[in-house]
Amino acid sequence: MMLLLLGLALVEALSAPIPRFEERAALKEDVRNMFHHAYDNYMKYAFPHDELKPLSLSYTDSLEELGNLKLERLSETYSGSALTLVESLSSLAVMKNSSEFEKGVLWLAENLSFDVDVRVNVFECNIRLLGGLISAHFLAKDSRKQLMSNGYNDQLLMLAEDLGLRLLPAFDTPTGIPYAWINLKTGVHPNETTETSTSGCGSLVLEMGALSRLTGNPQFENLALRALRKLWSMRSELNLLGTNLDINTGRWTEYSSGIGAGIDSFYEYLDAYRAVQQHYRYGSWYHDADMRTGKATYWQFTSLQAFWPGLQVLIGDIAAANATHREFLRLWEMFGIFPERYLLDAGKVHPTERYYPLRPELAESTFFLYQATKDPWYLDVGKKIMNSINVFSRVPGGFASVRDVMTMKLEDHQHSFFLSETCKYLYLLFDDSFLDGENHVFSTEGHLFPVNQSWQQQPRPKILSRLRLFSRQKPIDTSALTSKTCPRLSRGSVESACHIPDTRADHRCVSRSDCGVDATTCAKRSCSFAGYCS
Ligand SMILES: *[C@@H]1O[C@H](CO)[C@@H](O)[C@H](O)[C@H]1NC(C)=O
Ligand SMILES: *[C@@H]1O[C@H](CO)[C@@H](O)[C@H](O)[C@H]1NC(C)=O
Ligand SMILES: *[C@@H]1O[C@H](CO)[C@@H](O)[C@H](O)[C@H]1NC(C)=O
Ligand SMILES: *[C@@H]1O[C@H](CO)[C@@H](O)[C@H](O)[C@H]1NC(C)=O
Ligand SMILES: *[C@@H]1O[C@H](CO)[C@@H](O)[C@H](O)[C@H]1NC(C)=O
Repeated sequence: MMLLLLGLALVEALSAPIPRFEERAALKEDVRNMFHHAYDNYMKYAFPHDELKPLSLSYTDSLEELGNLKLERLSETYSGSALTLVESLSSLAVMKNSSEFEKGVLWLAENLSFDVDVRVNVFECNIRLLGGLISAHFLAKDSRKQLMSNGYNDQLLMLAEDLGLRLLPAFDTPTGIPYAWINLKTGVHPNETTETSTSGCGSLVLEMGALSRLTGNPQFENLALRALRKLWSMRSELNLLGTNLDINTGRWTEYSSGIGAGIDSFYEYLDAYRAVQQHYRYGSWYHDADMRTGKATYWQFTSLQAFWPGLQVLIGDIAAANATHREFLRLWEMFGIFPERYLLDAGKVHPTERYYPLRPELAESTFFLYQATKDPWYLDVGKKIMNSINVFSRVPGGFASVRDVMTMKLEDHQHSFFLSETCKYLYLLFDDSFLDGENHVFSTEGHLFPVNQSWQQQPRPKILSRLRLFSRQKPIDTSALTSKTCPRLSRGSVESACHIPDTRADHRCVSRSDCGVDATTCAKRSCSFAGYCS
């Protein structure tokens, strides 16, 4: 799950000859086949319900179950929002299947309603449904893409606005940080939990911001930004955030944090790279730590962490991205796929979290690294990922999640993000022609948002530039939709921007000369008392 700016850093790499043209073309067709196997079975056995159960050839109305571990307050009347279809639209566009895209848009325009009595997770609803609709709206609206043969009248934007308005009451809290849960018809339940996660309240701004810019209603962006501002003000002196907090008191309820579950999406939308590298990194791996002290808490790899090398590519830290990606790939190869949680200190899989729900993160990072380096080795990695998924989880009725990586026993569930992300990133690895001629941002759910220059010129609240607090110079004029790229120092290098890597592979140091230059600020890094480059 990731945010991308196909920016200056990549221009040079993009002009290099593309290796293994024919092989890429064949691999792309393999991914298309995977996507359609997942999609067609969803349409046949599950649509318009939310997700496919590929073993029992049935469906699950999972929108109300996402994040709802105890399955509380389930609706008696909810019968789905065509979630997997909404999530598939931007992938259909990337694969240039305009007829199916158009069919989907027209169905949603006529039949989708959010006036339903169902309690949903604000974050999940935002990244999957709202993001999926807004992205598809951008794509449908762009006449160059030729996706709508009979014209398009903003129907998806109207659906998105309706959904956005239904989410707004969640923001009515003493801190401005939204409730994690809301009922789409009746609003926030009087006894609703006041606990939320950092991802849950800190990853709303891209979708909400786009919705404001598209509709002219500033409320969405303002409320999402207010929440973010409050959240950021809660960081520790080390510039770290916790994982869980209370929306009424604005106090942390979980101080231990890292880059994985509960906080991953936050880092995709914001910028705290330096603090993360300083306090969570160990060699090429990342552990969790207490946000107040930086003291390590849990030594664990979680599958969601695999987005991190992709983010490092965007920052320009290609060498570090490459190193971490290689370490994570070794773990993938050890099992054939990722376990959800792997205990780094004990060197074994977590006793209960042994599943692999077809997550996209490794494919995503592989795509970004290939874009930045054009090293054909990453194509082989993509092939390997695709083969594993086909071998372990393809069943006649779709793609089933793996319940236990030790036994490869399957689970009767095909998550919608397999279509919006896993298949999309694999496809783009082998054919990125859809991205030509325009810069895009990928949302944390893999949905594409074109970068509209005119939005960047509009005045915007100061908060986004203050987030770049690690810059010791004057605040950088930037927003969530722009990237700052430092001047390139060495021509001909695949490294973006000003990044000069540490001279020592483990990022430990004895003196400043071991530490290179910060990729984002171009400032020389120093060697800390504890022997870490910072
Ligand atoms: C578009 O999607 C439909 C439904 O999966 C499929 O039948 C059709 O072959 C696809 N068309 C192309 C050009 O991929
Ligand atoms: C809306 O749903 C109805 C009932 O399933 C269906 O007959 C109709 O074709 C759908 N509309 C579109 C535009 O697909
Ligand atoms: C909220 O919880 C209280 C105490 O548990 C209970 O008495 C009350 O009926 C609940 N209200 C609603 C609307 O469920
Ligand atoms: C990535 O790492 C491998 C193995 O350490 C190395 O051979 C390769 O040159 C690296 N590529 C980049 C772009 O850093
Ligand atoms: C960019 O946004 C502006 C203002 O919202 C709009 O008028 C314009 O059409 C957009 N440009 C593109 C290429 O979508």
